[in-house]
Formats: sequence, structure tokens, C-alpha cells
Amino acid sequence: MPLVPMRQILDEAAKAGYGVGAFNVNNMEQIQAIMQAAHDTQSPVIIQASRGALKYSKMIYLRNLIQAAVEEFPEIPVSMHLDHGNSLDSCKKAIELDFTSVMIDGSLAEDGKTPNTYEANVAITKAVVTMAHPLGVTVEGELGCLGGIEDGHGAGLSVDEVNAHLTDPGQAEQFVADTGVDALAVAIGTSHGAYKGARKDPVTGKIMPPKLAMERIHQIHERMPNCHMVMHGSSSVPQELVDIINQYGGKMPDTAGVTLDNIQDGIKHGVRKVNVDTDSRLAMTGAVRKVFVETPGKFDPRDWLGPAREAAYKVYIERMKAFGQAGHARDYKPMTLDDMKKVYAKA
Ligand code: G3H
Ligand code: 13P
Ligand code: ZN
Repeated sequence: MPLVPMRQILDEAAKAGYGVGAFNVNNMEQIQAIMQAAHDTQSPVIIQASRGALKYSKMIYLRNLIQAAVEEFPEIPVSMHLDHGNSLDSCKKAIELDFTSVMIDGSLAEDGKTPNTYEANVAITKAVVTMAHPLGVTVEGELGCLGGIEDGHGAGLSVDEVNAHLTDPGQAEQFVADTGVDALAVAIGTSHGAYKGARKDPVTGKIMPPKLAMERIHQIHERMPNCHMVMHGSSSVPQELVDIINQYGGKMPDTAGVTLDNIQDGIKHGVRKVNVDTDSRLAMTGAVRKVFVETPGKFDPRDWLGPAREAAYKVYIERMKAFGQAGHARDYKPMTLDDMKKVYAKA
């Protein structure tokens, strides 16, 4: 099966009422773990690469690894998506590499740090849609800003600042009409990375999961029932994964992620794409630390990359089941970019 335009994966998810995990990759082990999990749960899946991931892997390696995954599991619908594109050029390069979907993150300026004006966001997002749709490529846009900073990307907003940059439902409706995006990333108080909030439980003193503005998702869904929303920063940062890291010499401070309850509530109200990166990073790091501490004599990379792959696989399986995509791989006949071109040309 060729790579599928993400729009079809999201349309089908909307029809059946489930969410689809969009998992970030940087290397072969993550791609293999995602695909094995997708095969074992029969899930359609979105594999995404950030600009940092493409730079790290020198672009062509990740692309060819994802192509290999598609060849190995031809029955699984897979979309290859650019995460947080920052310019027309970064989206163009991804499309030239055969990505079937791109995100243009116009919520921030091209520096990936400075919050953009609404007008500048519309202008760049519309330009990407104008370039991508005639090629059958899906476009995700973002309105409002997330917290945190990952690999130089992000405004580095504090919790208070994040709350001042939440997506406005009225403006969201305008944004979708102004740009023609296929999917809308919303800011509801999530942050990228492992440290998503500072609220402490008054009794235990432990960090609590971030308080998300779920009502914004409900309101956007009411206004635009057919809009596919995207939740970024959706790692759950499971305590058991942080514990493994710290048990084997890590020094991660107390933290908490987005609850599965919040994600499932989002999915009930129009969230179709759920971005998860950090959880696989945590799982892999814990597994590697464990090998190094328990068997310090080992020096074959396969002895620690293998367990890292297995640990990530477990995370993906859990997420695929929790988001509801499990069991839906064979629901539909996958479309090609050529099929999708015709759909956009008619619209
Ligand atoms: O959006 C952020 C993702 O977690 C990607 O992170 O830029 O470090 O690859 P990265
Ligand atoms: P996490 O850092 O919560 O995994 O979020 C990843 C993400 O949103 C990628 O775009
Ligand atoms: Zn993101």
C-alpha cells in the first residue's frame, strides 16, 4: 500500500468516532515499534517527523525507513507527516520527499519561537494549503500557542502565558474558513515535552496533570462538527516510565502529563489526531538505562536498542487501544495522493 494522505485517515476516524496517534520518529527502532504495534492492533497510523528529526537523520534516511515500514506492512494505512513545519520551504521540502501530509505551524513566526499575529498565521497557512492541495497533500494548521520548548521549537511560554494564548473558538472558525486547512491544532493548555504543568496537589505536594481548557474543544466542535482537531503535547508522562529512568540513575524531577481521560474526552468532541513523542522517549531512555545499569559489560548497541524498541512498542500499543484506532486498519480502501488531488479539485 502506498502512503495515504492524512486527510483520509482523519475523515475515516471522524466517521467511526476514534482518534489516531501521531507518533514522532527519529530512528529505525521507533518506526519499527510503531509499525509492529499498528500491525498487532490493526491500526491506521500517522508517523511524523519534526524538522529536528529530519535534520538529525539527514532527511532521506527517515523517509526511506518509513517507506520500508509501508512495504513491510502493506495492509496498514500510514500517513507520513511533517510535524511543526515553520515555512513554505520546509513544507515544500517534505512534500518533495513524498510526505503525504504537512503541518505549517503559523502560530509561531519562522523562528519557531515568537507568537505570530492572526493575519501572519493565515497568510503562511493559506500559502501552504495553496501549494499542497493541488498535489493531494494534507495540511494541518495551528491556532493559539502551546507551552514549553522542545529542541529549540516553541515560544517557551509559562503556564500563565499559555493560558493567555489558548485557541479562541470564534477565531478558530474564521481560521479554518480563511485557510482551508484539513486539520486544526488547538491550544488548550498543553505543552510539549516532559514538564507540562506546575500545579501541585495540596495534600501530597506532587505535580498534578495540567488543567486543560477542554471546553474550548467542545465549543469548537459545536461550531464546526466536521473540523478535525489535533491535540499536541499529548504525552501522558506515565509515572512508571519516569520511575524506571530514575531507578537506573536518571534525575527527572516530579512531573505529570495529559490524562487519557482528557484525550478521550477530546476524541468524543472532534479530536482526530493525538500527538505523542515524549512517552516513547521516556520508555526508550528507561530501557536503555536499565540495560546499562544491570549489565554494564554490554557493548553491542543491539543489546540496548532492542529493549528500547520493545519499551516503545508497549507505549504505542497502549495508546492505539486508548485512542480507539485499534481494529480500524482494514475499514477502508486507502486513497493515493492522485485520488486526493481530485477531491481537492472538486471542492
Ligand atoms: O513538537 C515537538 C516534538 O516533540 C518534536 O520534538 O523537535 O525535539 O524532534 P523535536
Ligand atoms: P509530547 O511532547 O507531549 O509528546 O508532544 C509531542 C507533540 O506534540 C509533537 O508535535
Ligand atoms: Zn507539537
